Amino acid sequence: MSYQYILTESLSDRRVGLIRINRPKELNALNRSVIEEIITALQGFEADAAIGAVVLTGNERAFAAGADIKEMAEATAVDMNNRDQFSRWDVIKRFKKPLIAAVSGFALGGGCELAMLCDLIVASDTAQFGQPEIKLGVIPGAGGTQRLTRAVGKALAMELILTGRFMTAEEAHAHGLINRIVPQELYLDEALKLASTIAAMPPVAVQLAKESVLQAHETHLQQGLLVERKNFYLLFATEDQKEGMSAFIEKRNPQWKGR
Ligand code: CAA
Repeated sequence: MSYQYILTESLSDRRVGLIRINRPKELNALNRSVIEEIITALQGFEADAAIGAVVLTGNERAFAAGADIKEMAEATAVDMNNRDQFSRWDVIKRFKKPLIAAVSGFALGGGCELAMLCDLIVASDTAQFGQPEIKLGVIPGAGGTQRLTRAVGKALAMELILTGRFMTAEEAHAHGLINRIVPQELYLDEALKLASTIAAMPPVAVQLAKESVLQAHETHLQQGLLVERKNFYLLFATEDQKEGMSAFIEKRNPQWKGR
């Protein structure tokens, strides 16, 4: 598969897929084609049983500096409503395998929202996160007002969204937006390591764990608890559950079959 705006790799020995957004001159601004290409790549990785987790990254200067302002600047409200471009991002949200953002440099506007759509975020110490849409006369439109608020709390989300200021990786880490900060030369390696650790886990349990954690994040508690409980019981239908528990009792390493 050849793409115009992304590069992809299958790191089969690690069971990890890698997607790099590749519009360096535009700081990886997310036009609609970039999002479509990411979706296509994710669908390929989802169908590939040899891949257990995916890392999404940009380059050292930018993860992504937002939705493509030039693509939207002249649009009317009716154009935007008809285009409904952010509904396509829901397809990324529905990706079933763990998706890890490896962020260096700018993760702004839609770039921050795309990172927040991922399940884990590994950041370089140069990363900057923000929702600066207010400075363009708009507001976050791909989930920022909701996901940032849930991740960092109302006080900081309100400040970032109303002032448009960027936050450093350290501030993002202190407020729970990201999992870890590493020196710039290591951020991608660290994300790949994390992905391969997860990819070595039993795949069905990983998928249902992800779905269950997202319920905590995106629904009310009672509904989330019900999904978690259902998924827990359901995993007893898998060979991996039998293998995992037997291996524990027999003091040996489990062999996962993904079923
Ligand atoms: N869309 C389109 N082009 C962008 C872009 C974006 N979001 N961000 C940067 N670019 C382009 C610039 O226009 C510039 O192109 P030219 O060389 O053709 O002029 C190129 O990338 C390099 O950018 P700068 O010269 O501005 O680089 P800088 O180092 O001086 O500044 C920056 C970097 C602070 C990130 C600055 O580029 C910036 O503020 N970008 C916009 C950030 C932003 O507002 N993002 C939100 C977009 S709206 C959105 O995302 C809505 C949503 O909720 C989904």
